[in-house]
This record gives sequence, structure tokens and C-alpha cells, in this order.
Amino acid sequence: KKQIIIDTDPGIDDAVALAIALYSDEVEVKLITTVAGNVGLEYVTQNTLKLLQFFNKDVPVAKGLDAPLIKEIINAGAIHGETGMEGYTFEEPTDRLLLKEHAVNAMRETILTSQEPITIIGIGPLTNIAMLLKMYPETQSNIKEIIFMGGSLTRGNSGVMSEYNIDFDPEAAKIVFDSGVPIVMVGLDLGLKALILLEDSMKIKEMNKIGDMFYHLFKRYRGGSMHTGLTMYDSTAIAYLLRPDLFEVVETFIDVELNGTYTTGATIVDLKGFLKKEANATVCLDINQEAFKKWFLTSIEHCTE
Ligand code: BDR
Ligand code: CA
Repeated sequence: KKQIIIDTDPGIDDAVALAIALYSDEVEVKLITTVAGNVGLEYVTQNTLKLLQFFNKDVPVAKGLDAPLIKEIINAGAIHGETGMEGYTFEEPTDRLLLKEHAVNAMRETILTSQEPITIIGIGPLTNIAMLLKMYPETQSNIKEIIFMGGSLTRGNSGVMSEYNIDFDPEAAKIVFDSGVPIVMVGLDLGLKALILLEDSMKIKEMNKIGDMFYHLFKRYRGGSMHTGLTMYDSTAIAYLLRPDLFEVVETFIDVELNGTYTTGATIVDLKGFLKKEANATVCLDINQEAFKKWFLTSIEHCTE
């Protein structure tokens, strides 16, 4: 089984990605760490615990950083609702799965004690992951790769050119790209193609208890745009983990713009090699939309005991 840590900020699309990973027979989720992103740290941590209780899955959860390294916090409550997962009433979760340790220490422990190299799935801002790599460089040799949803080859969704996870904490993203750890960037361009239409949401509702819950969250996702289609950004990172064959990729050099006039938080993906730098990442260029949809729906259908 693939040994993974998921770093997340649920978030409605995070919730779906978590479910797919937790119910996959090919994956062992060893730890879930939370990071401020879509909404504040307390909300995203509570949301994670709510989901695990609902799924009846026991995975340790550790709380991470509550703000970006340098920037002020921004908030995506308009997209995911004030609490980050608006639309469904979950039972209040217990703290049973919540570790006392900080996420960065819990990641270190999990990575250093694992027999097999760990893949880190980043589906929130990269703050925790950057801190891990800075504080505990000794973990790097046991990290297989970091697959993260974020950045963009073209436009942004947080600024003109910046994707939300990078825009939230660009300095952290730069630290991760500069680290030398193998990185796979599954960007916004792919997420925009990971589109779930109204008819798909209707199917999901009828699938099982989890599908029904997602349907209620979907009704509220992106201010209620179920009829025009919903973008399952974070599930693309899980898709890459399980079905890399769905993607067209290339090795390239990527950096993050920290001081642009208009472009702060943009990923600079040097596909043409203008900068003459060695590749530091694998970037996803395209996704097989139809095959993704099929995989996605089958994966949700599989979310039962
Ligand atoms: C990313 O930002 C968040 O709103 C989503 O959960 C996803 O991780 C998309 O830009
Ligand atoms: Ca997210």
C-alpha cells in the first residue's frame, strides 16, 4: 500500500479528496495534518475530525500552523462557507484522534519511523510542509515525493495569476520548490477540468451515505454553483497518486513569484527552459477528463465500509 500523509484545510473539495484516499484499498493514510487555508485552523481541524468520525476511520490528526509564514491570512469562506464545510450537519466530533503534538513534529515522527518512504499529499497552503523541510531536513531522505494541488500554468483563482494555495503562503511554496525533494504540481488548470456536473452530483447523492453527505456540501460549494459544475481540485492530487496514467506530465523548473507588480503568488513554470535552471518538479500539463470523471465517480461509489 502507498504510505501517505495528507496535509489539508477542509474545505469541501478537501473533504472529497480525504474520503477517496481513506477508502482506497491501495492507500494507507498514516497521518492527517491541518493547516490554516480555506478557513481558520480551528475550523479546518474540527472539519477533519468531523469527517473521520462520519467515515468511521481512525487516523491520527495533528494541528499545524494557524497562519502563513509571512503574509496576513486570507479567507475562502465565500467558496466553502463560513465554517469551511457548510451544508451538512455533522455530529460534534470527540478529540479522540487529535494528537497533542504539533503537525510538523507529528510529520517528522511518522516519516522517520516509517519502513517505507512516505508520500506527502498537500491540498492546502504549503506552510506546514515548508516548516517540516526547514526544521527537520533529516526527513527528506524518507519522503518519496510531495504531490500537491496548487499553482497554475495560466490564470489564477485568488489573484490574476495566483492560485489560492500558493497565494495564501507564497514564501512557504518557495521553500518547498527550493527543497530538492521530488515535487509533483497538480495545478489549477487540471482542477478546472476535474469538473463534476449537476447530473454527476445527482448520481453521487444516490450512491451511499457519504455521497448523500457530499451532495449537501456540493449544494453550498462555490456559492451554490452545482448547476454549472463544481471543480474537484484537491481530488486531482489523489488521482495523481493512484492513477498517474490519467495525466500528461513534464519535468521542469518551477519557482514562485514573491515580489511581482501584479504576479505575487504566481508559479513560474519554465516549460521552455528560458531560465536555464535544472528541473525541480514534475508538472501536470493535462488530464484525461473523461477518465478522471469515471475514476472519481467509481471512487465515491467505493466509499462504503
Ligand atoms: C485550492 O484552494 C482551495 O480553495 C481548495 O480547497 C483547493 O485546495 C484550489 O485553488
Ligand atoms: Ca484545499
